[in-house]
Order: sequence, then structure tokens, then C-alpha cells
Amino acid sequence: MTGEVVERVLCSSRYRDVDRSLVGRLAAEELPRARNVDDAVKRVKRRLHQAVGAFRGATRGNAIADAWKGDLAQPAFRAACTDALRGHASTRERLPHLDTFFAGIWAHTGVPASVLDLGCGLGPLALPWMGIGEAEYVAIDVDYRPLATAEAFLTTVRQPHRVEGRDLVSAPTEDEAEVALLLKLVTTLDRQDPGAAGRVLRSLRVRHAVVSFAARSLGGRGKGMEHTYRARLERLVIDAGRVSAVAEASVPNELVFVLTLDAVDG
Ligand SMILES: C[S@@+](CC[C@H](N)C(=O)[O-])C[C@H]1O[C@@H](n2cnc3c(N)ncnc32)[C@H](O)[C@@H]1O
Repeated sequence: MTGEVVERVLCSSRYRDVDRSLVGRLAAEELPRARNVDDAVKRVKRRLHQAVGAFRGATRGNAIADAWKGDLAQPAFRAACTDALRGHASTRERLPHLDTFFAGIWAHTGVPASVLDLGCGLGPLALPWMGIGEAEYVAIDVDYRPLATAEAFLTTVRQPHRVEGRDLVSAPTEDEAEVALLLKLVTTLDRQDPGAAGRVLRSLRVRHAVVSFAARSLGGRGKGMEHTYRARLERLVIDAGRVSAVAEASVPNELVFVLTLDAVDG
């Protein structure tokens, strides 16, 4: 019956681009709770909305390729990227602070020669604001829709890169890089499996991991949220078991932590 639920979900236009292993995992979890197959399909789609659907918007990849004249700094090209970044809820929220966002992180890590962007969404399209030169960019997400846009973008701008569809809950990556970005990823993974983010941090072969949380307004009315996320970060640090330092690079609407990790054994 799990197979039937998976096939029906993957037939829907909304979720046909989601990695099959995520759909299979959610189907196995929801079937025992469901009244019948129809109900299981509905439940899996609801969970997929939380995991991927809620962030998606329109993609505007063609406009980026048309605007590319060989220079990441060119205003018309940046305007096309900005427009595309509006297509994913989490990158849209970051737009007002893009100019300072990555510089604040690199101040703690150094400008990396390789970046691993986990649960990337449309994150790679912020490359013009990253200032990482020829660094290798590896982008991973469970949703092939933003990944296709990221792949086309990184190819257009000739950034050394690799793009990979992967369910980080069932298959944490052991990729090597100087810096891993887990931007607004932990709360998304927590909803799927509260132990997943800890497993991801334990398996990464990176020197620094950047963990962020969306906080609509930090301080003031957002204080409760901020408190919750700081507490979540503390638990994650303990769970990872290999964090030697934590620095902060927050912007007004996003809590950003830069973790320094001890090397993994073996
Ligand atoms: C809140 S968005 C953050 C996107 C991006 N990191 C950013 O900050 O703009 C969460 C991302 O995680 C991805 N995601 C959700 N569940 C995942 C999983 N199990 N494995 C890998 N990626 C996942 C979603 O598709 C989505 O792109």
C-alpha cells in the first residue's frame, strides 16, 4: 500500500518533483494513522506542504540567463537574481539584508573555497552577494524544482558546482567542504524528525556549519520566537557533540549562528 500512496502523490503536478525517498518515508509514517489510502495520500501531501510546498513560488530562471553578461556585480543581473529570489519564501525574507548577510558569516569563517548548501532552496541564486570567487558550490535539496533553477543558474554563471537531490533525514551527507550552510533548515527538518538535524551535523565533513532560524522580528514582539530558537540551537550543539565554538552573525529578521566543528573520526 505504501507504493500506491507514493505513486499517487508523485503523479500530482505539485509534488512530482520531490525526491521519491521523502515521499516514501512520509507514506510509511502516515499509512498506519490513516483511515484508507485516500486519507494517507491527503496526509502525505499535507506533510509535503510543510516540508517543501510552503516555500515555493514562481521560478524565473530564463530572465536570469537573459540578463547574464558575464559579470556577477552588474546591476541588471543582480536585479534579475533579486526577482528570482523572491520566488522562494525564505530567500525573499533575506533580500533586505543580502548586502551584509554573507560578509557577516565569512568574518567568522574566512571566505570559503568550498560551500555546501543544505536544503538550499533558491539560496545559490544569492551568489552575486556572496563574494566567494571560484569556490566550489554544492547545493542539496529534497525538492528538484528549486534545484533545477539552481543548476541552470550555476551553469550560466560558470561557477564550479554540483547539485544533488537528497532527503537529508534518511540520508545525511558526508560531503566535504569548508563551510556548510543550513539556512532555515533545522526547523523544517525538526517537523519531519527531531533527531535529523543532529545527525546531519554529526556526519558533515566541514570546518564550519552555519545554522539559521527565521525570526520575523528579532527583539520586541519576536522575543518568544528568538528564545525558542536560541534554546533549540543549544540542544543542537549538545546533540552534535563536536562543536568547539559558536559565533553569531544574525541580521534583523534571521538568527544566524556560525559553529566551528571538530573533525569527524575516521
Ligand atoms: C525554509 S527552506 C530554506 C531554504 C534556503 N536554505 C534558504 O534559507 O533560503 C527549507 C528548504 O529545505 C528543503 N527540505 C525540506 N525537507 C528536506 C529534507 N528532508 N532533505 C533536504 N532538504 C529538505 C526544502 O525543499 C526547502 O528548500
